[in-house]
Formats: sequence, C-alpha cells, structure tokens
Amino acid sequence: MNILITGASGQLSSYLFEEADVRNHDAWGVDIVPPGNASAKDKVEIIDIRDTEKLAKSANGADVIIHTAAQVSVQKSLMDPVFDADINVLGTVSALKAAVDSGVKKFIFISSAAVYGNPVSLPISEMHPVNPLSVYGASKLAAEGYVRMFENTYGLKTIIIRPFNFYSSRADADSPYSGVITKFSECVKNNSPITIDGDGMQTRDFLHAADVSKFIHLAMESDVSGVTFNCGSGKAISINELAEKMISVSSKNIDIVHSQPRTADIKHSVADVRLAEELLDFHTSVTIEEGLKELFTSQNQLSAKMSISMQ
Ligand SMILES: NC(=O)c1ccc[n+]([C@@H]2O[C@H](COP(=O)([O-])OP(=O)(O)OC[C@H]3O[C@@H](n4cnc5c(N)ncnc54)[C@H](O)[C@@H]3O)[C@@H](O)[C@H]2O)c1
Repeated sequence: MNILITGASGQLSSYLFEEADVRNHDAWGVDIVPPGNASAKDKVEIIDIRDTEKLAKSANGADVIIHTAAQVSVQKSLMDPVFDADINVLGTVSALKAAVDSGVKKFIFISSAAVYGNPVSLPISEMHPVNPLSVYGASKLAAEGYVRMFENTYGLKTIIIRPFNFYSSRADADSPYSGVITKFSECVKNNSPITIDGDGMQTRDFLHAADVSKFIHLAMESDVSGVTFNCGSGKAISINELAEKMISVSSKNIDIVHSQPRTADIKHSVADVRLAEELLDFHTSVTIEEGLKELFTSQNQLSAKMSISMQ
C-alpha cells in the first residue's frame, strides 16, 4: 500500500514508518518540522496540513492517508482554543478535502479518548457518551464529525481511532506539555523526586506508541470502514503504581511526593477494547514493564522486539 502520513515527524509517526517498512508498505509524510527519528529521515516534506493544495499534491498516488497531525496539548488548547481548532478542526477538514481531491480511498483519523470526558461507566466503550472536558477533546470530536460526513457524502472510506494514553522514549521530553510517563521518566533520569498530582489513586490506560502503530496498520489493512475504535490496553493502572513501577525498573532510589490535585482531573479511565479485539484481532505486544524499561535503555531494543513479533 502507498501511505501518506500527516504529522510525520511526530512520536507516533516514527513507529508508523518502521511498521510500514516491516509490512512492505511505501510511506511518506508531511509535517511543519523536520523529523528527529531515523525511521522518518528523507521521507517528510515540510507542508502545513492547512495548505490543502500542497497536501493534495503530496497525497497523489497514496491509497491511504493516516492523519496524526494535531495540536496535541490539552493545556495549550485551554490557553488558545482558536489555534487548537484551527489545527485540529480546519486542519482535518483540509486533510479530508486533500484526500478526496487526490483520489485517496481510505482516511484514518487519529482522534483521542479525550472526546469522552468524565466517564459515567467503566470500562469506556465506543458507545459511551461523548462529553469532552477540554478544548482539545472538543476539537477532536468536531473533527470526527467531518470524518464521518466525508464517508457519508463523498464515499471516502474512513476509520476513527481514539487512543488512550500512549508513550515511548521518542515523546518530546522538552515539551512543557509532555505526558505523565515522560515527565516521571525525566525525574528518574535526573535523580529528582517524582511529583504526583493529588493522591495518585487516579487510574489511566497506558499503551506503548509501537502498539498504537501496530493497531493503525491492522485497521488500515482491514476491510473495515465507517467504524470508530478505542485503542487502549484495557488495563487500568493507578498513577501511584505507575510511579512505583518506574522507580523499580530504573533500579534507582527516587522519592515520590504529592502535590495539589489538578482541577477537573478525571478520576478513572480505562478502555473497553473488545471491538478492536473482535474486528482487528488487536492485542498489545508491549507490557507496561517492558515499555517503562525501554525509557531507560536503547529505544532500538523495543523496535527489534516488535519487528520480530510481527514475522
Ligand atoms: N500521546 C498520546 O497519549 C495521545 C493520546 C490520544 C491521541 N493522541 C493523538 O495522536 C496523534 C499523534 O500524537 P503524538 O504523540 O505522535 O504527537 P506529536 O506531537 O509527537 O506529533 C504530532 C505532529 O503533528 C505535527 N503538526 C502539528 N501541526 C501541524 C500542521 N499544521 N501541519 C503539519 N503537521 C503538524 C507536529 O509538528 C508533530 O510532529 C495526535 O493526533 C494526538 O492528538 C495522542
């Protein structure tokens, strides 16, 4: 298959390129910054997704667009909702239009579990009500509406994927908006205490970015379309447990301290993963212990493991 990846210099895309190589797909991409990871080297054109014409040219010859490009920070979305909507809503509409204009058959949209907001039942299935708490969640949800509309009206085959929290050693550790695992691992690397917001009893569903990449490839290669999938591990882990596991795999002596809870923080979150198991036969390959270990060793070790498990 020929694949155009948007947000091609990002964390997730670096794994998408590796997986594409293993599965003998031809992948290239667009981003507004050059790639930092070797897997995307020489494969990324500097194009803003809001430039529909250039994007359509880049999509020429692609069978599929995997749309990962986004304003990814919840905090930033709250500070600048207009910018967030510009990238996440208008940018997605532009990518959909480019897909249709260039004759692309399938569009895979990387949405987010943030569309659910505060869960009213657990585990969270794809049928759970959507009620976002953040501007980011609202922009992802609005974009999902356009994705569905393009399938209904223009016949573009689409799949919406709602990842829960994913992580890897390739996440941007310098970003003030990095996720909890990246923040904790930076503390461990710097031998400074891990600070947990609130009592640490809040739970989340974490999976490795390499597993999200595998999920996307399974969805892309399947005959499924018009379906929305959760992408998670199906396992809840508390933030206290996460911090303890991380300290244990690092074999360091690091303190844990607690600060004020975050305002409007979701207490518990875990994905119902049965739909992806049933339709895509998706199961995570990287355990949380393996994933955390990788943060303190070479990232290539895990990539090698993933490639071997694919063969
Ligand atoms: N990391 C998570 O836990 C998580 C959870 C749920 C959903 N997601 C979604 O997964 C996707 C990938 O996340 P990631 O962690 O790889 O993020 P990332 O920040 O590493 O990658 C996103 C990429 O999009 C690019 N981009 C931003 N604006 C652009 C524009 N206007 N034109 C072209 N490129 C642009 C960025 O430069 C970046 O390289 C995003 O859509 C994100 O919202 C992430």
